[in-house]
Amino acid sequence: MNKYYGFFDGIKNLYDGKIIECGLYDDIFSNVYNALAGNEEIKELYAENGFCVGKNILEIAAGDGSNYMIPLAQKGFNVDGVEISESMIDRFNENVSKLPQRIKKKLNMIQADIFDYETDKKYDLITIPSTTICLLSDDVERLENLFDKIYSWLTPNGRLMFDYRTDQVTERLYASNILTNTNLEDKYYIVLQEFNNFVPEKSIVNMYVEKADGSKYLACSEKKIITEKFVDSVIEKTCFKKHYTYHVKEGDITIDVCVLNKEEVA
Ligand SMILES: C[S@@+](CC[C@H](N)C(=O)[O-])C[C@H]1O[C@@H](n2cnc3c(N)ncnc32)[C@H](O)[C@@H]1O
Repeated sequence: MNKYYGFFDGIKNLYDGKIIECGLYDDIFSNVYNALAGNEEIKELYAENGFCVGKNILEIAAGDGSNYMIPLAQKGFNVDGVEISESMIDRFNENVSKLPQRIKKKLNMIQADIFDYETDKKYDLITIPSTTICLLSDDVERLENLFDKIYSWLTPNGRLMFDYRTDQVTERLYASNILTNTNLEDKYYIVLQEFNNFVPEKSIVNMYVEKADGSKYLACSEKKIITEKFVDSVIEKTCFKKHYTYHVKEGDITIDVCVLNKEEVA
């Protein structure tokens, strides 16, 4: 069940019955996703690692493709994506329709829940960017099985990359500043806030969108707050070896970008 706090709880009560609730990656929210552009430094790290290992990339939970799939295809990689949300895939298809044919043919999106997905295809780099690993970490055994599956999908010297926030702690309640963004072209505004440990060890993001026509939408996403200790314990259960961890800072936010190797490097 969606959980709302502060302003968002107030808005829900204020407009009781006149507000549309959906998932953070569904309906209207799949449209506003690309207003929340990813970190350029981190995008470069993913591309650099791609250049070290080969041409074929799989992005897990690939969203609308605007942050990673499309920019990587424009750099020359062949990029497959697996994504669960139909709305995100609709946005992806819209984004791809604007691209030249030579880029389009490097992109392939598959609709699936990554925990059920199977393939015989091999990839040089498999990625889980934009802190999405926290959406996949609720059931540790299921995550370890996913890592094993990813291991089997990699070429002999392939790499797995993912990132997660290291500024979030499980020990204290925290509400971020309220963030806002107005889109004059598509005529809506967004209000966004993060609430940590209001549910223990969870980071909950509440988002409100109001369109110029007066329609109102609320969404909530719930991510597990993961720590280096948690990440290390998952890696230990797999055959992966840690290759490198980049530490990236963006204002108050710190992110670790982890690179794992299928084979140990000499
Ligand atoms: C934070 S977004 C990241 C999107 C994209 N990777 C990016 O960097 O822009 C997380 C995405 O994970 C997708 N997702 C969540 N659980 C999933 C699952 N079990 N299988 C496939 N996709 C999933 C959501 O629908 C959403 O599009």
